[in-house]
Amino acid sequence: MLEITDLVAGYGKSEVLRGISLEVKEGQIAIIIGPNGAGKTTLFRTIFGLLPTRSGKILFENEDLTKMSSLTRVKKGIALVPQGRNVFPDLNVLENLEMGAYTVVADKKEIQARMEECYRLFPVLRERRIQRAATLSGGEQQMLVIARALMSKPRFMMLDEPSLGISPRLVKEIFKTIHTINQTTNTTIALVEQNAKIALKLGHVGYVMEGGQIKMSGTTHDLACDERVKHAYLGKRE
Ligand SMILES: Nc1ncnc2c1ncn2[C@@H]1O[C@H](COP(=O)(O)OP(=O)(O)OP(=O)(O)O)[C@@H](O)[C@H]1O
Ligand SMILES: [Mg+2]
Repeated sequence: MLEITDLVAGYGKSEVLRGISLEVKEGQIAIIIGPNGAGKTTLFRTIFGLLPTRSGKILFENEDLTKMSSLTRVKKGIALVPQGRNVFPDLNVLENLEMGAYTVVADKKEIQARMEECYRLFPVLRERRIQRAATLSGGEQQMLVIARALMSKPRFMMLDEPSLGISPRLVKEIFKTIHTINQTTNTTIALVEQNAKIALKLGHVGYVMEGGQIKMSGTTHDLACDERVKHAYLGKRE
């Protein structure tokens, strides 16, 4: 579904992604782990078109995305849940969800149906639907940004550290819902996650990113068994 070859991107003079190649097959959950500053967020921003590709290729369903705007990428079925829970603070839950749909669908009934789907996945959002997003808890805000991304009915969704700063109980719930989204709607998922243990359990394939490059890749099972991964990311010594 997604095939990236030799991707180079960065900010100003600094080159952050230094030749990234990776592949995500339809229906998979691919996880990306790596230390702070490895370029994980930069990779997602480049795939989503918020940052230009300097060289290399991003193919989505065999189509070259490289020159397309973010909006075009959304219309092709790509969504990004950015790092840092950025809800529209002054809008309520319902209005936040509407914002997620308005660039791709105009039909009111369809928007309503998609909203119902979101409320089924995150029942707490239904309870809070007329509450201002700024006053939601951190976990609820994270659920809202995931739900908002789902409003565009993506076929490929990127999630950038959805567990950051959230209580362990809610993290569990959010990961369970990500699994449900993948299973029930066949949404292909790429997930950046600091918590390697939980991510390796959830994903099918994984990539270890360090210094703007992919250092290791494989099935999550193989990665979880790898001594270097255990040592660096799972806090276990051989
Ligand atoms: N807007 C920006 N302008 C300039 N440099 C940036 C910008 N955003 C990120 N960088 C730099 O790019 C590098 C990679 O950052 P990035 O946010 O992609 O890392 P990350 O792997 O997502 O880290 P984290 O785990 O902390 O989220 C860092 O050195 C960072 O300082
Ligand atoms: Mg990041």
